[in-house]
Parts: sequence; C-alpha cells; structure tokens
Amino acid sequence: MITVMGATGNTGGNISESLLKSGVDVRVLGRSAGKLAALKEAGADVRVGDAGDAGYLTEAFRGAESVYAMIPPDPQASDFRAKQDREGEAIATAVRDSGVRYVVFLSSVGANLPDGTGPIAGLHAQEERFRRLEGVNVLALRAGFFFENFYPNLGLIKHKGINGGAIVPDVPFPMIASRDIAAAAARALLTRDWKGLTVRELLGQRDLSQAEATRILGARIGKPDLQYVQFPYADFTGALVSMGLSASVAGLYAEMARAFNEGVAKPLEARGPLNTTSTRFEDFAVELARAYEAM
Ligand SMILES: NC(=O)c1ccc[n+]([C@@H]2O[C@H](COP(=O)([O-])OP(=O)(O)OC[C@H]3O[C@@H](n4cnc5c(N)ncnc54)[C@H](OP(=O)(O)O)[C@@H]3O)[C@@H](O)[C@H]2O)c1
Repeated sequence: MITVMGATGNTGGNISESLLKSGVDVRVLGRSAGKLAALKEAGADVRVGDAGDAGYLTEAFRGAESVYAMIPPDPQASDFRAKQDREGEAIATAVRDSGVRYVVFLSSVGANLPDGTGPIAGLHAQEERFRRLEGVNVLALRAGFFFENFYPNLGLIKHKGINGGAIVPDVPFPMIASRDIAAAAARALLTRDWKGLTVRELLGQRDLSQAEATRILGARIGKPDLQYVQFPYADFTGALVSMGLSASVAGLYAEMARAFNEGVAKPLEARGPLNTTSTRFEDFAVELARAYEAM
C-alpha cells in the first residue's frame, strides 16, 4: 500500500491515478471527502484530515510501503513559513512514528539553500528534517517551475492584454509539467530504488524564459504579439495582495523571483536524460488555451 498526500492536487492527483492503474493499493489524503470521491470510486482508501495533524498523518502513513509527502501551499496563510514549518514537523513526526521506510518528497530547485528563496526555504527545512530521521529513505524531487503557474496569469492576459510577473523576461530556467513530476514520483514510490536522503532534480523538457513561454502561449490563444512585462517587486507583491494572497505569501513569492533573477536559486545538476522530462510547453499551452477560452 502506498499513501499519497495532496491527492486532489496537481501532483498527488496524477500520482494516485497512476498508482491505482498499476494495481497497487493506494491511500489518498486531503481535506475533503467530496473532492476525493472519484479516487474512492476508483478503489482508493480515503483518509480525510489536516496536514498539520501529526496523529492523523501517522495513522494515514502506517502500513505504507512508501509515502508521497508534500507541504500544501496556502496562499492565504498569515505566516506562510511558520505554517510550512508546522506541517513539515507534523509530516516528519508521522514518518518517524508510523515506521514508514520510503518517502518521496516534493521539493524544488533552490532547496539546497536555507533562506532567501521565499517558499522554497520551507522545502529546504523539510529536507533537513528528513535528513535527521534515522532508517528512513527519503527521495527529494527538486522540481523546476510548474507550467501550472501560468493558470493564474490568464486573467491578466485576458483583461490587460499582457503577461507579467516579477521574474526577468529573458533568462531561461527549468519549467516542468506537474504530470511529469507525478510520473517520476509514482515510479519511485513503486521501485523504492534509493537509499538514505537522496536528491534528484526534475528540470522539465527544456529551459524556457518567461518571454519565450509567453510567445508560445500567445500564439496558441490567437495573440501572437503577447508580451511579458517584468513588474517591480513592490508592484508584484501589491498585485498579489489585491488578488487575495496574504502579504506573507506575496512577499515570499517576490523573494523567490529575486532568487531566480539573481541566479541564486538554480539547478545544481547538468541537464541530462535522468532529469529531463517529456511534456513540452507547446503541448501544455493547448490546455492553457482551453482554460483561457472558457473564461
Ligand atoms: N509551483 C511550482 O512552481 C513549484 C515548484 C516546485 C515545488 N513546488 C511545491 O509543490 C507543492 C504543491 O504541489 P501541488 O501543486 O501538487 O499541490 P496543489 O495542486 O497545490 O494541491 C495541494 C494539495 O494539498 C491539499 N491540501 C491543501 N491544504 C491542506 C491541508 N491544510 N491539509 C491537508 N491537505 C491539504 C489539497 O487538497 P484539498 O484542497 O482537497 O484539501 C491538494 O490536494 C508545494 O509544496 C510547492 O512548494 C511548487
């Protein structure tokens, strides 16, 4: 049996479906029985609870051959780093107390750094918590920037006719479809082919700049001249707060953008077959375009 946290999310959803298809027993976690109903229908054991509740997680992890662990993002958290730490502690405690021996943890490019990287620092802290556990094999998948991050920008494109953010326009960096992360995670959860705390980067099909991704998306939605505009950090955080994100989360996202812009947060591995995945942004743009048209 394999336990999957965040089973209604980008990565956890695909992992759960693929494990169920492969015929293993799967236990799926999330906060809403309703949102997990389709996975239950497909044969999963559903456990509803909160990622900050170590007792709940311990029971949900108990008996699992491997666990997919992730720290859920909370755009409204008043102190996002503190929440990451609370949930990270709960996860590490549950791994220790449940006796699970294999964990695949969703981390990020830049998680080698303890601070200065916004929300990624919380993933670094979690890798360190796992490193301190004895007898547990943890695979930290350090993923690049999700293609899914373009969804929240569709409103800006629709209403203002531009794409934009705090990241520089022209520097290519690794971007990846979350389904490619899910495929790598599902494989690892089944094969359990690593020892101790092991880090693997997942860098997507190729490095892409914001400007190039914007051009590809623009062409797909019938706006071939769509431009990417880099906003000053203060304007960016202000815009995120006006969209309903907490000041804490907005400030951390700006810090993360700065860490990418200044080359501080970057891959440590050279690109090669093991960290390159298949989904092209050109193909993902078809899905973004569908969502854009439906707005
Ligand atoms: N975006 C990026 O570019 C990027 C890059 C590298 C790493 N990451 C990391 O990726 C992770 C997010 O992964 P994802 O995109 O697969 O997740 P996601 O789509 O944001 O989904 C979050 C999942 O967590 C569940 N959840 C939310 N709050 C919860 C809580 N308090 N207790 C229990 N479950 C909760 C949600 O379920 P319900 O809402 O149904 O409860 C959902 O299943 C984050 O740790 C982020 O730092 C992101």
